[in-house]
Amino acid sequence: MKKMIILMMLITFASVGVAIAVDTVVYEAKKGNVTFNHKAHSEVVGDCAKCHEGEPAKIVIDKASAHKDACKTCHKEMGGPTKCNDCHKK
Ligand code: HEC
Ligand code: HEC
Ligand code: HEC
Repeated sequence: MKKMIILMMLITFASVGVAIAVDTVVYEAKKGNVTFNHKAHSEVVGDCAKCHEGEPAKIVIDKASAHKDACKTCHKEMGGPTKCNDCHKK
């Protein structure tokens, strides 16, 4: 019985994990982790093509891309966060 409960918990956690992986991505950084809410962004921005070229697929985010075209450039244009601690949360 105990094993069954643990198994059910594992399945619950596994499915929650999948849902989060699609909706929200957390980028780890020493300055503080950056949470990217993909679902909220899709709604606010409205058009997948603003971020994805062609068929939407994984985009590689690193410091250089995040601080320019992948994140910050649009924040300047559309009024998203541009200060360090607006994105990096400790
Ligand atoms: C629009 C959101 C955003 C803003 C604004 C922003 N960053 Fe970042 N930053 C990121 C993301 C996303 C990464 C990529 C993390 C990764 O590589 O996984 C990153 C990476 C970094 C890194 C390298 C990762 C590490 O572990 O140290 C440093 C340092 C950093 N940022 C400092 C800053 C500083 C300083 C500012 C303000 C001048 C700033 N960031 C503003 C989103 C942002
Ligand atoms: C504000 C920018 C932005 C918008 C708008 C956006 N995406 Fe994304 N999308 C990203 C980023 C950044 C990633 C990479 C996330 C990561 O680091 O795993 C991504 C990842 C993805 C992935 C790959 C997921 C994976 O890792 O398997 C798919 C599929 C996707 N997006 C589809 C869409 C679709 C469909 C829309 C429109 C409804 C959309 N995106 C709107 C930025 C965006
Ligand atoms: C195409 C435009 C666009 C791109 C690209 C974009 N954002 Fe944003 N983002 C916005 C807008 C617009 C807002 C403000 C939304 C609001 O006020 O409701 C925002 C808000 C945010 C916020 C604060 C609100 C929240 O969701 O907590 C964070 C953090 C953020 N973005 C991180 C990122 C990161 C990290 C990236 C790159 C991986 C990124 N954004 C790429 C348009 C964009």
